[in-house]
Amino acid sequence: MNMLKKKRDFLTISDFSKDEILETIELAEKLKYETKNGIQHHHLTGKTLGMLFRKASTRTRISFEVGMYQLGGKALFLDANDTQMKNGEIIQDTARVLSRYLDGIMIRTYSHKEVEDLAEYSSIPVINGLTNDQHPCQVMADLMTIKEYKNKLEGLKTAFIGDGHNMANSVIEGCLRVGMDIAVATPKGFEPANHILEKARGIEKTSSGRLYLCNDPKEAAASADVVITDVWESRGIEEDKNIRRKLFKDFQINSELMKITQKDAMVLHCLPARREEEITTEVFEQHQKEIFEEAENRLHVQKAILVKLMSYNNH
Ligand code: CP
Repeated sequence: MNMLKKKRDFLTISDFSKDEILETIELAEKLKYETKNGIQHHHLTGKTLGMLFRKASTRTRISFEVGMYQLGGKALFLDANDTQMKNGEIIQDTARVLSRYLDGIMIRTYSHKEVEDLAEYSSIPVINGLTNDQHPCQVMADLMTIKEYKNKLEGLKTAFIGDGHNMANSVIEGCLRVGMDIAVATPKGFEPANHILEKARGIEKTSSGRLYLCNDPKEAAASADVVITDVWESRGIEEDKNIRRKLFKDFQINSELMKITQKDAMVLHCLPARREEEITTEVFEQHQKEIFEEAENRLHVQKAILVKLMSYNNH
């Protein structure tokens, strides 16, 4: 019997329970092993993913496209500017039209509300490929990479150094969901938004992980097992670049900061990186192996997310 299940979306890490996050990472590990050993896994034969972009991308676009191919399906790249969205067709109508053709949608855009509206009006799964609020696929890849290197997640301490923006928000949510401590150091005025902190305090009630906020990178990095950063202009505000460089100059991952972390601390960066801004060339190159493993794991973990969301008849 063809049981019609309610469609699921992945807009923030919290769309998955702790168990689902861990199961998805386990499936990603299996898919990674199979890919590297030439074992085909066509879980999504005949399925099509639409990839709607309002912003540039290297990793997200290529990893989703290759992922769908490896799963036996197809990915369609949709530049929003080449669709009627450019001429004002609203997201609610776009959602209902795309749902008639596709089996899933991945979207990269600015407004998180736009992704929520897309999900509400779509009858097919919607995956968030980055908004101003969240970057959940990236943080799933980060968690997978941490587990690969440390053999566990629960009980570890992550430090996020930099802007309290989309990456910081998803790192907070991801770490707390799996029982990791997360310390976030931002310049004053660049802390995560109140709705993110309220959500985090809610997650803490059922998690062994704790969130610490401060404005001192050393306080956050002390004894950290994992250090994560992102570009200082992550909000895409180019005009205040010089002001930001001054405000963020002490929030750099450098060898001095790494002296106070655990000796075997990992460094992760979602990329692209700006050397000598948020991270020195020296530290980047010392940790390039795990940083590029993290980039590769986008492919494997997103394939697991696609399988989880798209491998049933959702129309
Ligand atoms: N980290 C990340 O999302 O990379 P892209 O912007 O290249 O997709």
